Amino acid sequence: MIRIRNFQPADTDDILAIADVQLGEKYITVDDLSACNVIVVEDVELQKCVGFCLSYVGQDGKSYVRTVAVNPDHSGLGIGTVLVAKAVDYLQSIGAKKIMSPLWKHDDIVNSDVIFRRNGFFPVLEIPDYWYADSIAKGYSCPVCGKGCHCTCVMYELAMYN
Ligand SMILES: CC(C)(COP(=O)(O)OP(=O)(O)OC[C@H]1O[C@@H](n2cnc3c(N)ncnc32)[C@H](O)[C@@H]1OP(=O)(O)O)[C@@H](O)C(=O)NCCC(=O)NCCS
Repeated sequence: MIRIRNFQPADTDDILAIADVQLGEKYITVDDLSACNVIVVEDVELQKCVGFCLSYVGQDGKSYVRTVAVNPDHSGLGIGTVLVAKAVDYLQSIGAKKIMSPLWKHDDIVNSDVIFRRNGFFPVLEIPDYWYADSIAKGYSCPVCGKGCHCTCVMYELAMYN
């Protein structure tokens, strides 16, 4: 059985371990967890967090789903889709009318395309080298490029009309 809930400090190690494997070593840090709203999925039997989603309102006033990741052992169960849905609920509850999400594209595939489209998002823009400066400044590794990420971001958008 799984449970969707808000982040607790005891989830930190599980989240960082998932992030290192799925998003690249050191891409997500403890500071990111305090700067964002963090929703987690917990496997109740295993008593561990098996997926998470970070969202936030930027200094530009825009709302973002920053990232979502699921433990590979738990993929394909709908966890990623529900995490994005809960992040959208959160951002809407604090007044978001439009939500952006910079999604990772490699080998011409955005592997989270399906879970974002299921939540009403559409691609609006491609940005080459989106993470390059940040990856150098913060020293994280891309799972594809290693140090200095040259991956393209596809910006997805969800607009609410009510
Ligand atoms: C993308 C990710 C969050 C999906 O989590 P999940 O819990 O498996 O997602 P769901 O079960 O809700 O949906 C799975 C759907 O995503 C699609 N999908 C998952 N991985 C995919 C991949 N590598 N390539 C293409 N599509 C993929 C499938 O179409 C699948 O649909 P189906 O179940 O109808 O076959 C997870 O695979 C992950 O952590 N990936 C690495 C990190 C990442 O890319 N994050 C998003 C960018 S920030």
